[in-house]
Amino acid sequence: MGTEKDAVIENIRTRRSVREYTDREVSDDDIRTIIDAGVHAPSGFNSQPWFFVVVKNREMMKRMSDHCKPRLLAQLEEVTDENAIEFKKELANAEFNIFYDAPVVIMVLGSNAGFTTDYDCSLCAQNMMLAAHSLGIGSCWIGTACFIQENLEMMAELGITSDYRVIAPIVFGYAVKEPEEPEKKDPEVVWVR
Ligand SMILES: Cc1cc2nc3c(=O)[nH]c(=O)nc-3n(C[C@H](O)[C@H](O)[C@H](O)COP(=O)(O)O)c2cc1C
Repeated sequence: MGTEKDAVIENIRTRRSVREYTDREVSDDDIRTIIDAGVHAPSGFNSQPWFFVVVKNREMMKRMSDHCKPRLLAQLEEVTDENAIEFKKELANAEFNIFYDAPVVIMVLGSNAGFTTDYDCSLCAQNMMLAAHSLGIGSCWIGTACFIQENLEMMAELGITSDYRVIAPIVFGYAVKEPEEPEKKDPEVVWVR
């Protein structure tokens, strides 16, 4: 019989970035549980420099996506990486939404006043994705959405002041199907005994 420890490791091993979602909404209760898992992450000096914006408005998500797509395309102009080339093709499609038409995006914002904000918010984000996975909810970190940082009107509309920066925009929802595990490299480890 599996132990609780196995269950945690199994949850970590089986979490996948989900890029195809059903229309089913994520309940506000589940969103609160996911954020609560996030704020249980460690943070430098226990600074907890995060703040969250929950976007369930699809029209807003589309506007955010439309703002970010051309900016990422421009940045990827010179890339030669196979995965990036594939993503460029998707970005060029007018129908493509960077949030994969998921029912909710939760933005993890980090305080500019913190010393370890990027680390803290990334740990928070991973807790959130793992918590979602254990609730049967898929997720995907959408780094592309960080381009909204430069759109001050949109930032104001989202209630984000200049004291904070966008660190982890994450979509959540129910997966159409479980994605296959992408290749994971064997870790390079130096043992010093
Ligand atoms: C910082 C960061 C930014 C990411 N940005 C995107 C993104 O914009 N769009 C996307 O589809 N996936 C994005 N991802 C998800 C990665 O592509 C994914 O984690 C990776 O391919 C490994 O797959 P897995 O999460 O299923 O293990 C991002 C992940 C991280 C950590």
